[in-house]
Amino acid sequence: MTAQRIDGKALAAQVRSEVAVRAAALTAAGRQPALAVILVGADPASQVYVRNKVSACEQAGLRSVLETYGAELREAELLARIHTMNQDDAIHGILVQLPLPPHIDAQRVIEAISPRKDVDGFHVASAGALMVGQPGFRPCTPLGCMRMLEHIGMGKLRGKHAVVVGRSNIVGKPMALMLLAADATVTIAHSGTPDLAATCRHADVLVAAVGRPRMITGSMIKPGAVVIDVGINRLPDGSLCGDVDFESAQDVAGWITPVPGGVGPMTIAMLLANTVQACAQG
Ligand code: GUN
Repeated sequence: MTAQRIDGKALAAQVRSEVAVRAAALTAAGRQPALAVILVGADPASQVYVRNKVSACEQAGLRSVLETYGAELREAELLARIHTMNQDDAIHGILVQLPLPPHIDAQRVIEAISPRKDVDGFHVASAGALMVGQPGFRPCTPLGCMRMLEHIGMGKLRGKHAVVVGRSNIVGKPMALMLLAADATVTIAHSGTPDLAATCRHADVLVAAVGRPRMITGSMIKPGAVVIDVGINRLPDGSLCGDVDFESAQDVAGWITPVPGGVGPMTIAMLLANTVQACAQG
């Protein structure tokens, strides 16, 4: 069997064009959606991510406000800047790019963002809302994964077993909660799970978000399973690969996301969707 590919680039383009329509309507009504992006320091990967977010805003008709600071920025200054943006009615979403320099407490910074503008969905109030099934902003990467599952007709997961490999606050934990909300039976595994292969082989939906290049191989996949690869790892030769060994996995899986061109583009599309939502909820 050769798995069908889930084309994240094409689906993200569709989401972005839906976002553009909503943004245009809000702009015509005198409320252009706006995202503030704060970058502290000069981490090269973060610079690329931030540039992509800002240009995605522009392409969809959202206003972006990019603020960059040196790595020596004091935490108090960053918190003060966020407080000002919280009060600014012309800014609807606030995103602080992670990681932050070690002298800044990232969780304290995230908690300073108003939950009404927390388009990353990282605030403890957003995480709590997801936990208890209340409305709130959902983290963009797992939200994009759910959109991919809906796209292939797997949005409802009653009777299905989902395995999430990875337990981060940004992906693994919220992903598991969203799969649970879609009625899946969910297992959270991680790099320390004994006999990870046996656990993965139970999965009708397998989400890899562990940050280890090609860790999930074809022999760990149930035939016909949907495999969503969140990993983006840079190899010594400079090329990118996921947490899934695509070559061996595609012979076993029913559906699979490529890296690059899978989950990555969906994350930015869902960020735009959350920002337009924040503006509409104004
Ligand atoms: N760093 C890596 N991924 C993300 C993300 O989704 N949001 C933010 N703010 N920082 C990140």
